[in-house]
Amino acid sequence: MTQQAIRFVKVGKVAEVPPGGRETFDVDGRRIAVFRLDDGFYAIEDICTHDGGPLAEGEVEGDLGVCPRHRARFNIRTGAVLSLPAFVPVDTYPVRVEGDDLLIGVPEE
Ligand code: FES
Repeated sequence: MTQQAIRFVKVGKVAEVPPGGRETFDVDGRRIAVFRLDDGFYAIEDICTHDGGPLAEGEVEGDLGVCPRHRARFNIRTGAVLSLPAFVPVDTYPVRVEGDDLLIGVPEE
């Protein structure tokens, strides 16, 4: 089994995503939502797998993100889908903090 290489890209400052907050970033043509939960930063694709809803604009319930369009729920930590109408998980991305900088890991092209 081959493992895909990850490249970390600086997207902004830690302060841009306050505790309990979220922000979206464009990285290599991907729209990625970064959520700051009580134990750190988590990044998922910001496009609902049901019909493209912007997940960063939805409610957050603990570690669950609720799609603002039709209310499918996703686990922000794992990308797992927890309720219909979506049934496909969203991609997740590793997040790294270096000093004040926020970096997101994306697959090498
Ligand atoms: S677009 Fe997200 S639940 Fe429909």
